[in-house]
This record gives sequence, structure tokens and C-alpha cells, in this order.
Amino acid sequence: MFKGAESNIYLTKWYGKKAVSKIRIPKTYRQRMLDEDLRKKRTISESRMLNLVKEFGLRTPYIYFVDPSRAEIVMEFISGNRASKVLTSSICFDIGKFVSTLHSFNIIHGDLTPSNFIVNKKITMIDMGLSFYSRRNEDKAEDIRLFKEILNSTHHNSCSEFFCNFLDGYRSINSKELEKILQRLKEIESRKRYAIA
Ligand SMILES: Nc1ncnc2c1ncn2[C@@H]1O[C@H](COP(=O)(O)OP(=O)(O)O)[C@@H](O)[C@H]1O
Ligand SMILES: [Mg+2]
Repeated sequence: MFKGAESNIYLTKWYGKKAVSKIRIPKTYRQRMLDEDLRKKRTISESRMLNLVKEFGLRTPYIYFVDPSRAEIVMEFISGNRASKVLTSSICFDIGKFVSTLHSFNIIHGDLTPSNFIVNKKITMIDMGLSFYSRRNEDKAEDIRLFKEILNSTHHNSCSEFFCNFLDGYRSINSKELEKILQRLKEIESRKRYAIA
């Protein structure tokens, strides 16, 4: 079993196939009814998003079964390593391409960290628990900001190279938008510096 921030992950079988059961765990600091409702909604929304982005040619686990009342998604088991464990420039490039495609269809990831991608021959995005629709460059910039921040704290030596490769991958799909989004990112970063100072 794995423990995510939001959920417990169990290995299981689905009609003979290796599968994963993702069950959102109750958060006791939330009021019970509210918590149940939130977990139910996020379960439905995540399974829809994971399905939807397949239409854009992006690789995500196949959804086998959803039980909103148990906050459970049963999905394809993806073999490979978490990108956070085996990160390289070329993986960052691929994640950049992936995110750029997502953004070009106005989907914001909402929790863009390398641990939400699994690397095998191809890259698979496994977690869309906090994803949502938005056309706003500010939201797209926020995705990129989080990714940059995680690189900074976990891969300090190679972070600027990794981040540059991520941006190159992003640019290879959508160069026009990226410049506007990076402008936004600068604004967000200077706002945060100002807030801390
Ligand atoms: N479909 C899957 N195939 C293989 N491993 C998975 C799959 N889904 C989740 N995992 C593993 O469980 C961990 C937590 O899952 P994740 O969906 O990111 O949960 P959370 O939303 O709580 O962060 C992942 O980092 C990954 O290692
Ligand atoms: Mg996760």
C-alpha cells in the first residue's frame, strides 16, 4: 500500500489485470458531511479528467470502476518509476510537453509535481485529483510555479537545467502562449517575494 497526501493506494486485481484502488481518506479536520461530499466530488472529477485527457493523446491510467460513495477509483496499474525518483532533463522535457498539451485544452493540473508522473517507455500522468478547467494564464502559471519550486527544493544542483528542459518541452507544443504565461509567472513570483519581505 501507498499513502498519498489525499488517499490510500492498494494493489488489487480487476478481472485478472493488475490494478490500483485509490480511496480518498476522510479528513477529520473537515466537518463530516462536507468531507464526504468533497471526497465524492473529487473522486468523480478525477476519474472524468483522467478519461478526458486521453482524447488529447495523453497517457493516463484506464479507469476500470468508480464508486463515489466509497470515494474509490479502480484503475490500471502503471508500472515504472515515479518521475521524482529518476528525474532527468529528457523526462523534464517530456513532462513539459505533457503539461503544455494539457494547458492548450485549458486543463490545469493543480498539483504539478514529478511524483504524479510515472516513467516507463512513455510518461504517464497518474494523479489528477486537483485538476480543473481554466483559460486563465494565471492558473497555468501557477502550475509551472509549483513545478519549478519542487525542482528547486528537491534537485537543487540540476534544477535550472531541469526547469529549462521543462520549458523547452512546453515551448515545443505551444510557444506563443508560453511567453504570456511566463510573464504571469514573473508577476506571481515578485508578488510572493514582496509578501515575504
Ligand atoms: N495507477 C497507478 N499505477 C501505479 N502506481 C500508482 C497509481 N496510482 C497511484 N500510484 C502510486 O501511489 C502514489 C499516490 O497516488 P496519487 O494518485 O498521487 O495520490 P494522491 O492524490 O494522494 O497524491 C503515486 O505516487 C504512485 O506511486
Ligand atoms: Mg499525488
